[in-house]
Amino acid sequence: MILYYDSKTGNVQRFIDKVVQITGWTAIRIQKDMLIEEEGHLVTFTTNFGQIPAITEDFASKNSAKLYSVTSSGNRNWGRNFGVAADKVAAHFEIPLAFKFELSGTMEDINQFIDIIKNQYYDSKRGSKKLDIA
Ligand SMILES: Cc1cc2nc3c(=O)[nH]c(=O)nc-3n(C[C@H](O)[C@H](O)[C@H](O)COP(=O)(O)O)c2cc1C
Repeated sequence: MILYYDSKTGNVQRFIDKVVQITGWTAIRIQKDMLIEEEGHLVTFTTNFGQIPAITEDFASKNSAKLYSVTSSGNRNWGRNFGVAADKVAAHFEIPLAFKFELSGTMEDINQFIDIIKNQYYDSKRGSKKLDIA
């Protein structure tokens, strides 16, 4: 499992470090003009009133076919803009939305994220799982 991530002030980095510590998954920090060969999941943050960070936008536009899901860190203080970079990446580049968490995430967030990724509880699969239970 590969996690491609973007982090400016270190919150996503800390979240990723904890996920890697628990799972042993591989994490790669994205850079401008990066083209990936192996599929993986994107984890980013939301910036400037609900914007996608520039490096994330460039990366997602070039690698969307190889990205299974997108997750965003954010802060609930931003209200309706909480974690919306994930919604925007999902909509613009047709990448399934996986999860949103605050700052570097709580232990519960980390476990929930791992569960979602491991069991592919994102996008339509997540919806159909819920329907199955109903
Ligand atoms: C200038 C600025 C604007 C932000 N705008 C948003 C926002 O619109 N929505 C949101 O959920 N979080 C927003 N945040 C919070 C960041 O997404 C949050 O702190 C995140 O954990 C940063 O990740 P990083 O430390 O890995 O860079 C903003 C933070 C800053 C500094």
